[in-house]
Amino acid sequence: MDRHAKTLATVALASLLAIACGARPASEPHALDAPAAVPPDGPVTFTRHVAPIVFEHCAPCHRPGGSGPFTLLSYDDVARRARQIAEVTTSRFMPPWLPETGFGEFVGERRLTETQIATLAAWVESDAAEGDAANLPEPPAATDGWALGEPDLTVTLPAPYTLPADGPDVFRNLVMPLPVDETRWVQTVELRPGNPRFVHHAIMAVDDTTSSRRREEEETEQPGEPGFSGMEMGLAFMPDGHLMGWTPGMAPNPGIDGLAWRLDPGTDFVLQLHMLPSGRAETIAPVAGFHFADTPPSGPPLYLIRLDADHLLDIPPGDPAFVVEDAVELPIDVEIHAVYPHAHYLAKSMEGRAILPDGTERWLIRIDDWDFNWQDVYRMREPYLLPAGTTLSMRFTYDNSADNPRNPSDPPRRVRAGNRSSDEMAHLQLQVRPRRAADLVLLRESLYRHAIRRNPANPWSYYELGNALLEQDRLDEAASQYLAGLGADPTHVPSRTSLGAVRERQGRIDEAAAEFRTVVELDPGYADGHYNLGSVHLARGRLEDAARHLRETVALEPDHAAAHTNLGHALRELGRLDEAATHHREALRLRPGSAEAHNNLGSVLAVGGLLDEAIDQFQRALRIDPGHAQARQNLELAREIAAELERAGLR
Ligand code: HEC
Repeated sequence: MDRHAKTLATVALASLLAIACGARPASEPHALDAPAAVPPDGPVTFTRHVAPIVFEHCAPCHRPGGSGPFTLLSYDDVARRARQIAEVTTSRFMPPWLPETGFGEFVGERRLTETQIATLAAWVESDAAEGDAANLPEPPAATDGWALGEPDLTVTLPAPYTLPADGPDVFRNLVMPLPVDETRWVQTVELRPGNPRFVHHAIMAVDDTTSSRRREEEETEQPGEPGFSGMEMGLAFMPDGHLMGWTPGMAPNPGIDGLAWRLDPGTDFVLQLHMLPSGRAETIAPVAGFHFADTPPSGPPLYLIRLDADHLLDIPPGDPAFVVEDAVELPIDVEIHAVYPHAHYLAKSMEGRAILPDGTERWLIRIDDWDFNWQDVYRMREPYLLPAGTTLSMRFTYDNSADNPRNPSDPPRRVRAGNRSSDEMAHLQLQVRPRRAADLVLLRESLYRHAIRRNPANPWSYYELGNALLEQDRLDEAASQYLAGLGADPTHVPSRTSLGAVRERQGRIDEAAAEFRTVVELDPGYADGHYNLGSVHLARGRLEDAARHLRETVALEPDHAAAHTNLGHALRELGRLDEAATHHREALRLRPGSAEAHNNLGSVLAVGGLLDEAIDQFQRALRIDPGHAQARQNLELAREIAAELERAGLR
């Protein structure tokens, strides 16, 4: 079932990762409001009053190598732009930060207080004096190093990527093999995107198949350039429940203790960069620093809840306030860790709310002036409990009028959901952690029931609901969901595969075989399709058919350990012992620590009369798993036979 789950994760990810590209709209004019707070008494000077604000709140980006278009590190730097600085801080255009104050508290908030804003304005009004050099605070240290300390593993591209001088925004997926030779647990990844002036945001994903490498090889648009283009990342996905993004000036994410994610050997790191051509060709050389945890995750895992109103998006041209909403009730207690709102250029305001069972309302996030270019993942400063019975809701408003300076279409046109920058999206993702791991399946069940109500035409929702029911051993209900998925799309291979698996568990073997046969007809290149059909034939004693489909499986996927095992069983039953041993040896090569694989090989060797070698395999099995009853029984039997043969003088 793992593989089907992966396919789905990929699909869910494709929408998670669907981010538009397009021209950057001009920033809006900034009105200079009257300062609301009182600046300090007496003369306001750079060294005493302004530098502390600018060094802390502006220099993280306005420094060499930062994302800002100029440095703000000296009196001259700041005095030269004094009036503009007063304007952009008063309008709250700088520092860039979308969430409204008082509607959720997040890590790394970039906000000036009213007093700080008033201080900057008063300084500009009073001739922007420098003041006594003795008062100047230490300028911020150069931050070329890693914010989270030296990583355990750094990866980079063999050669940098060259961003073209002009043209539209670029979405590039860069593939970097991860040199780990044993399973590791990743606490967090710190990204240095290489050139933050031109990288607007980044998404980090992993691919444990070869699909990303293959796409890179196939990409011929820009031969020799690393990576492949586009927003769609194929089989690369973020580790379950994790949100791995990068934006300029974001607070480094130390990860959550006890919730590291699993990294297996052979996995590629896939980095999607959204870049803005600058008029000159630019060299982009990202470096990713991996921090490993000592221990695997423990306790309940993270999970992403997605509120989604894409299906309601049909925004008439000229409409200045088109509203969409979605809401879902939590069936279990969860702790909320982060929110990730997503839309394209037309979105104006975004509201995320929780109504607790006692009726109190709690804001998850509120953004009154959304700007695609400053999108971010917002992590809660303190994760908090949302009890079962809480209603989570989103309400997004879109401005499709000609007065919206960010409107990518001129004149405005009808807009629906989609992946292009001129399409729209309406997602609010919530990163949560169930209080009890066993509850997660109930949350999934309820979210997919909701997804089906939202869009009854999507076979994936029935499939996922079926999986959640199957995990609860509700076989009949699961089967009816898979059937409903096939009602929506009769060619939906995952639903048909899972229906076959349920039929097998229900003992309805012939029906299972019929479903698996249809799968193989629908997708003859699907290795697991042949594996399922071969295995069910094996269970029915149809050995030749079993061997045929299992051979097909290992031809399509030579490292399919389970197929080698079952093929070994089928060949043994057919009396083809040498071939059987070969496939059990393959299975063993692929799963060197498996007691089962040693026992399987031993059994074939014993049947073939190779008693010493068989005994050796049973002993190995028992060293790995001393409680392996079958291996113990087999060992005793093999020893008895050996002794008997010896007594008879046959050994
Ligand atoms: C998170 C990074 C970041 C921080 C923090 C930041 N800036 Fe900026 N700033 C930028 C970027 C990037 C631009 C380029 C314009 C854009 O992309 O919107 C910019 C542009 C500007 C501009 C030019 C605006 C225009 O309309 O052309 C000014 C002035 C400015 N910043 C001042 C400040 C001041 C003052 C602070 C601190 C109070 C600050 N910035 C904090 C990233 C930052």
